[in-house]
Amino acid sequence: MPLDRRMFLAAGAAAITASSAVARRGFAQPAEGVSRMKAISSANGLKAVERACELMSGNADTLDAAIAGVEIVEDDPDDVTVGYGGLPNENGVVELDAAVMHGPSHKAGAVASLQNIRHPAAVARLVMRRTDHVLLVGEGALQFAKAHGFGEENLLTEKARKIWLYWKESLSGSDDWLPPVYDDIDPDVRRFFKIKPTDAPPGPKTTRRHTWNYERPNGTIHLASRNAAGDVSCVTTTSGLAFKLPGRVGDSPIIGAGLYCDNAIGSCGSTGRGEANLQNLSSFAGVELMRSGMSPKDAGLEVLRRVVATTEPRLKDAEGRPDYDLKLYLLSKDGRHAGVSMWGPAKFAVCDENGPRLEECAALYERERS
Ligand code: GLY
Repeated sequence: MPLDRRMFLAAGAAAITASSAVARRGFAQPAEGVSRMKAISSANGLKAVERACELMSGNADTLDAAIAGVEIVEDDPDDVTVGYGGLPNENGVVELDAAVMHGPSHKAGAVASLQNIRHPAAVARLVMRRTDHVLLVGEGALQFAKAHGFGEENLLTEKARKIWLYWKESLSGSDDWLPPVYDDIDPDVRRFFKIKPTDAPPGPKTTRRHTWNYERPNGTIHLASRNAAGDVSCVTTTSGLAFKLPGRVGDSPIIGAGLYCDNAIGSCGSTGRGEANLQNLSSFAGVELMRSGMSPKDAGLEVLRRVVATTEPRLKDAEGRPDYDLKLYLLSKDGRHAGVSMWGPAKFAVCDENGPRLEECAALYERERS
């Protein structure tokens, strides 16, 4: 009979704390100095970190637990940044990127520009386990997934298609696409683009009696897991930058950019502007800074400062701050963790013996709270 979630967590901690365990809020606490089981992720992974911890409590491998966690988000049609329901490229085709890294073996696997397969992280794990390669892309990745029994399906939901179509129709006033009048706009599209009715005459972002605005999402989920023995693994999975050029690959499937782990040190992964991580190998840098003795938080903030220093002027605001967002999630072998963000306020997800929760990221720059 399945154990209660909290008993799963307690079981994992109790296994290593033996008689020294102290019950607090229903969880057995690890003895001082004894390693803790933990999962951290981007804020969209609250259920994912909980599932990862449940599975690690049952002695699942850290990477298997992490992948099972992110599959909740890959399956979620309401998360338009990952897997099924992800926003498509500029041609309306969903292209997914994912990578996994397994601390104990230091092996990695990845897929990029994968179409029609809703669980790219599981395919990346097979690249790691069942090939002599690390990264498969495009048609080759699809053929590999099909060879392993993954079924093809259309990943473009009606919600994502309508958002994409509105984007396409509103891009320019000098092509032949016309956006709908305000009353005909789908509620999901209105929410996504923050569309409001207006009497203003047509102009940039004012069209057919409404205004539209949005921040182009390059959301993703990254999840890192650590078991009671101190092994670490991580996974990053995404539909990438919304409305990207077909074939654009971000940081998520690139080892060292969108994720990295070293079982002797810990793990780092990212969400946000992938190009910034590709230019700075941010996740590798985060782990290396922890190796040099920095805490997860200090290491993450130092990586963000390096990214700012290499950001080209066209991507900076009048005060020299990046006009994009970037977040890093760091988990050390000894169980410390941090989420850091270019812009705050921002949250990330954590689960340990105290259960799943959102915590505040440390931020380089703060936007005014609304
Ligand atoms: N970080 C996700 C992407 O840029 O594709």
